[in-house]
Amino acid sequence: MNRRKVLSWLTLSWISGILSALVGACSTKQSSTSTPPAPSAETTQDGFIKVGQVKDLDRNGRLLQTFSGDQKVLVVRDPKTTDTLHALNPICTHRRCPVDWQQDSQNIFCACHGSTYQPDGAVVKGPASDPLESYDIKVEGDAIWVKSQAS
Ligand code: FES
Repeated sequence: MNRRKVLSWLTLSWISGILSALVGACSTKQSSTSTPPAPSAETTQDGFIKVGQVKDLDRNGRLLQTFSGDQKVLVVRDPKTTDTLHALNPICTHRRCPVDWQQDSQNIFCACHGSTYQPDGAVVKGPASDPLESYDIKVEGDAIWVKSQAS
């Protein structure tokens, strides 16, 4: 091996080492910043959990959020008394299919077998015979807070 080849080989090795160190440093930095920590749910001392904002409820016609473990809540505004909000378990009491708010009919509907509920969770039409489970709800400013009976 002549002197020129040795110098060329050493130079390539040195450059390769520097590039590896730079790539490793960059990838370490990316992984630490690419996954932001999950936001912690805002909870009050009396067990209410913030589930959204009134402006989002009014824009979308309803709020459907996971608020405790895998427990979900459906928040709707009562069309008869618009100051009243209802927070309900969005699981049908017939055979546990998910229900959702129907803006056109102003009712909560289960697509599995057609049960229909009032905005307060009372049954309008079966086969479900029991109302939707309701949660405590309060509004502070624009924030909507919900508390399940279990908490
Ligand atoms: S599961 Fe909802 S109507 Fe049957």
